[in-house]
Amino acid sequence: MSAPTSFSAQEIHQTAIIVVAAGSGTRLGYGIPKALVPLGGRSLLEHALDQIQLAGCAAQVIAVLPAGEEELASRAANHPLRPRRVSGGATRNDSVRAGLAALEPGTERVLIHDAARALTPPEVFRQVAAALVAGSRAVIPVLPVVDTIKQVATDPGREQPHVTGTPAREMLRAVQTPQGFHAPTLLAAHQRAAGWERSEAEAVTDDAMLMEMLGERVDTVPGAAAALKITTKPDLALAETMLPPHPVKETPMTRPNGENPAPLIPRTGIGIDVHAVADASEPRPMWLAGLHFPEDQGLSGHSDGDAVAHAACDALFSAAGIGDLGTHFGTDRPEYAGAPGTTLLAEAARLVRAAGFEIGNVAVQFVGRRPKFAARRVEADAVLSKAAGAPVSVTATTSDGLGYEGTGAGVTAYATALVYSVR
Ligand code: CTP
Ligand code: MG
Repeated sequence: MSAPTSFSAQEIHQTAIIVVAAGSGTRLGYGIPKALVPLGGRSLLEHALDQIQLAGCAAQVIAVLPAGEEELASRAANHPLRPRRVSGGATRNDSVRAGLAALEPGTERVLIHDAARALTPPEVFRQVAAALVAGSRAVIPVLPVVDTIKQVATDPGREQPHVTGTPAREMLRAVQTPQGFHAPTLLAAHQRAAGWERSEAEAVTDDAMLMEMLGERVDTVPGAAAALKITTKPDLALAETMLPPHPVKETPMTRPNGENPAPLIPRTGIGIDVHAVADASEPRPMWLAGLHFPEDQGLSGHSDGDAVAHAACDALFSAAGIGDLGTHFGTDRPEYAGAPGTTLLAEAARLVRAAGFEIGNVAVQFVGRRPKFAARRVEADAVLSKAAGAPVSVTATTSDGLGYEGTGAGVTAYATALVYSVR
């Protein structure tokens, strides 16, 4: 099957990837969930998410995590993919079911992937997704087997089994993940299996097998050596030799006390706000950068129109990746209607900290003819810094008479923010 090299927006939108990462990693023996085990300074789950991000074939990503495991949950939450997080169950099958339950309605295709196959190359995801787009209802990545495989049986009263047959090696394939499925069919298959006896359920060792039992045809695409399942310490050592170049240039940093050797990646954000100056027939107070300018006609808007404070809020939300002004102070939050800019900024800073970040700084550039800002810049920095609990600096400029800022019809504020994870 020749795979298309690109996906349409709709194809991406209707595709989901579930990463099961709720196992305990007993055989690896680190005493922490396997998905949290570091490989080249990054957890297995984060590697798996990196590869999924590079594949770019699914709009929905769901990470199934061990219940109550905060470190892994916070690493998932801070990954740029922002996967939806759900708690897994006692067996891998239970975890897959928990992931399927979180699928958005209308999902056409779903890829089920083991976080333990952390280095599965993006191309494998793309081939699986492409086969589904081309009409497969079930598709798995496979590799030829190198060992000769024997079928065995154990006679009663004997310890070691004897050989009952030798399947032709060219007919055998070793199976990897992601396994791709027509989502409604896999859901139905899992719902059916949910009521099975334990022994029946344990005999099902992968999702494709459930589809086979329904009489569905399962197609294959080529797997990859790098998609090896990390189960034991030697697997981890082998994976170390296969680490791909990281897509994000990281700045490794160590906290001052020398702890936390994990790389600390600061995040930047941007926010822009524009407000018109209210019509002269409707006198309004001018609030900007948390200050009242008594000589100026105010800005229009439902709020106090403090474009500087609002841009600062959006830059903070953007840096933390937690939405924007509309997400947090939208019309469904009437308690913020008309709230002063400093109140919004304080709340934005609180939300960013609640998401696990500390604020490095916020910088805002204001463009407008009025108010005259220079004399009150120090005061503005102090008021906004107090609200954010972090350094906020405001600079101002005119636009040389050009545009709405130049005529005095409106103002623009541009803000950037830098935050860093403290988890
Ligand atoms: N998995 C899961 N929920 C479980 C068990 C396993 O989500 N209850 C996931 C694992 O996190 C892993 C994949 O299924 O990504 C394959 O499982 P396995 O390699 O066996 O991982 P562990 O169960 O963590 O390891 P072990 O069996 O050694 O404890
Ligand atoms: Mg296991």
